[in-house]
Amino acid sequence: MGLTIQTVSPHIGAEVIGADLQQPVGDNLFRELHQAWVDADGLLIIRDQVLKPEQQIAFSRRFGELASAAENPVIEKYSLPGHPEIFRVSNKKKDDEPLGREDAGTYWHADGTWQTFPSKASILYAIEIPRVGGNTMFADLYQAWETLSPTMKRLLEGLQAVHAMANAGDTSYGREFAGKGDAVAAKSATHPLVITHPDSGRKALFVNRGYTAHIVGMTKAESDALLGFLFQHSTAPELVYRHSWRAHDLVIWDNRCTAHYAIPDYKAVGDRYLHRTSVKGDRPMQ
Ligand code: OGA
Ligand code: MN
Repeated sequence: MGLTIQTVSPHIGAEVIGADLQQPVGDNLFRELHQAWVDADGLLIIRDQVLKPEQQIAFSRRFGELASAAENPVIEKYSLPGHPEIFRVSNKKKDDEPLGREDAGTYWHADGTWQTFPSKASILYAIEIPRVGGNTMFADLYQAWETLSPTMKRLLEGLQAVHAMANAGDTSYGREFAGKGDAVAAKSATHPLVITHPDSGRKALFVNRGYTAHIVGMTKAESDALLGFLFQHSTAPELVYRHSWRAHDLVIWDNRCTAHYAIPDYKAVGDRYLHRTSVKGDRPMQ
């Protein structure tokens, strides 16, 4: 089966045409998809897939071990009953119970960078999408690095930053986790500001507004000013692809070289219901 790969913006994202993920994905096809994903700066779109939870889970496992909602009591209720590997993102309710996490990721972030081994990939599958709205923006953190001046690059290289879940405190995520005690307060990790991606060998600016809290060794004022610039720089429109979802889209993003933002503008138009799997990280960022 020949695949066609089409870029969706000048820097980030590619669409794959000709893949059928309902069938088991053999090694050759997986290698091709993985390479296309790396080449597209960590964002791959595969449209028109009709996937049962088992099929999404089986495909996701090709990327690595999956996170399970059972590991995190606060999000357990959003997992798909019987499939703790699937986290539901939705504004819908059934009998007053949320069918998924509403307003997941409605701010710039990359998933789970507060972990010691940041998540490799998130794989989000759209089941119900409003006619318009509810897009997701993706920023290219390789480009964010590459478009800095040599002087700024010299300043940043060698610096470390703390990423903390609690940093997302003024978001719905932060509010939900607030008051859950030390278990949540402790969810933080220190990573280099500039990482070398293990698959591409390229450098990326590893920051996101949601979780990057503080640059190690700087005063709060220094860190806030520099991070403020880096957050703005890394999400400039030139570095961003905006995905307009259709039902049956499967989108795979790399949390080590992209950031994303779910736009919560759609609720007067229709409902949104998606299934996400998360591939665990397997190494520290370097
Ligand atoms: C996520 C997330 C984006 C979206 O699931 O990690 O940020 O568009 N979702 O729902
Ligand atoms: Mn997210």
